[in-house]
Amino acid sequence: MFRSLQYDDRDQVTLTINGWEVAAREGQTVWSAMAVNGQVETRRAALSGDARSAYCAMGVCFECMVEIDGLPNQQACLRRVSEGMNVTTQRITEESEADDAGL
Ligand code: FES
Repeated sequence: MFRSLQYDDRDQVTLTINGWEVAAREGQTVWSAMAVNGQVETRRAALSGDARSAYCAMGVCFECMVEIDGLPNQQACLRRVSEGMNVTTQRITEESEADDAGL
């Protein structure tokens, strides 16, 4: 389990992560809000379906892709939380891509 090591007096925002309403601090990354709230699964691997999570936490590896407000492929380690944001684990697979294309 992750936890913040700093006292943080920034304003608090409320967002939803996989259906759970959680509090975070303004300016905090989506990934850190997910981690401190025990929601570390960012996406499912497109081919194997295995759970994936943030790896580099600095915008390089793209393991942290999530859906934010219905928009897929958002890097949780770079995006900042905002009031009312809705974050979900991304579950795009080869099959879902084909479904979306009407194939
Ligand atoms: S964790 Fe590597 S790009 Fe986000």
